[in-house]
Amino acid sequence: MITNDIALAVTALTAGNLCAIPTETVYGLAANALDESAVARVFAAKGRPADHPLIVHVASQDDAKEWIAELPNWAMDLATAVWPGPLAIVGVRTELASDSVTGGQDTVAVRVPSHPMAQELLQRLKDHGVKGLVAPSANRFGHVSPTSAAHVLADLGEYLSANEDLILDGGGSQVGLESTIVLATGPEPVILRPGAVTLDDIERITGVAVSTHTTNAPRVSGSLDAHYAPRAKVILISEASNFAFEAKAGFLAFFEVPTPFKLVRLGSPATDMDFAHELYGCLRLGDDLGLETIYVVPPVGSGLAQAINDRLRRAAF
Ligand code: TXA
Ligand code: MG
Repeated sequence: MITNDIALAVTALTAGNLCAIPTETVYGLAANALDESAVARVFAAKGRPADHPLIVHVASQDDAKEWIAELPNWAMDLATAVWPGPLAIVGVRTELASDSVTGGQDTVAVRVPSHPMAQELLQRLKDHGVKGLVAPSANRFGHVSPTSAAHVLADLGEYLSANEDLILDGGGSQVGLESTIVLATGPEPVILRPGAVTLDDIERITGVAVSTHTTNAPRVSGSLDAHYAPRAKVILISEASNFAFEAKAGFLAFFEVPTPFKLVRLGSPATDMDFAHELYGCLRLGDDLGLETIYVVPPVGSGLAQAINDRLRRAAF
C-alpha cells in the first residue's frame, strides 16, 4: 500500500480511490475534490463528522481561482508571497466547490502545497481532469496528525482498501504542524488556525493588521477544544515547576532542559522549528511505548511557538 511512485498515485486518484500524500506540513488523505463518492470515503476513513469542511489542494495560485470566486487584494498578495507553502486561504467558493467539500458553507479553503511530490502529483492530475484534491490530515478524527507514511499506515491502514488505496511516501514532513488558515472574506485577515506562516509574516506581507474578531468565523474542526491528542494524557508544565511526576511518563522539552528523574525522554528539540517538526512524532512515540502521561515544557514566545502552543493546549485538553 505504501509507494513512492507518483504514477501509481495518479492512477489511484483518477480512478476515484484514496491516496495519502506527503505535504510540507503533515500528510493528507487525498481524493479527487470533484468526485462525491471519493470525498465521502475520506470522511468515512477518518471517522470525521460530515459538516467539517475540507481543504482543496491545487498546483498553483492560478488553479486556486477555479475554486475561490474573489479575493481581496491583501489576500492575493499573501498568496503570491507564500504559495506554494504552508498556508490555506478561505474565500467565497465557486460552483466547483460542492457542499460535501465545504460542509455546506459558502466559503472554501484552498492551499498550494510546496512538497515536490505533492506539486508533481497535482500538476500531472490536471491532465486527467482532476482540478483539485481534498486532503484532510491523514489521521483518525481528533488524533495526532501524521508526519510520516508509517504514521498514516498506523492510523488509517485498517480503513483503507489494501488493493486500491495508496500511501505516497515522501519522507518526514518538513514543518510538522498543519497549515496556517486565513479567512479572506473581509477587509482584514482573520487567522482561523495558527501555523508556520505567522501573524507577523501576514502583517508584513499584506501591510494590513490581522483582525482579532473571530465571532463570525466559520467552523474549523482543528479549533475544537480537544484535538491533536495522543492516547496518553498530555500535561503542560513550566520549566521551573516542581511537579510530582507520575511513573511511566514521557518528557518532551528543549534539549537544555534536563530530564526529570525516572521520566522517559521523547525528544530534545533545539529550536522552535525543531519542536514543531518533532512534536507529533514524539506524542506518537509516547503512545507506542505505552506511556500513560506525557509531560511537555512548551516553547514560549510569538511566531511558530504560538502555533505549537495552540496544538499542545488542545492535545492536553
Ligand atoms: O496543513 C494542512 O492544512 C493539512 C495538509 C494535509 O494540507 N491539512 C489539514 O486538513 O490540516 P484538516 O482537514 O485536518 O484541517 C482543515 C481545516 C479544518 O479545521 C477545517 O475546519 C478548516 O480547515 N476549513 C476547511 N474549510 C473551511 C472553511 N470553508 N471555513 C473555515 N474553515 C475551513
Ligand atoms: Mg486534521
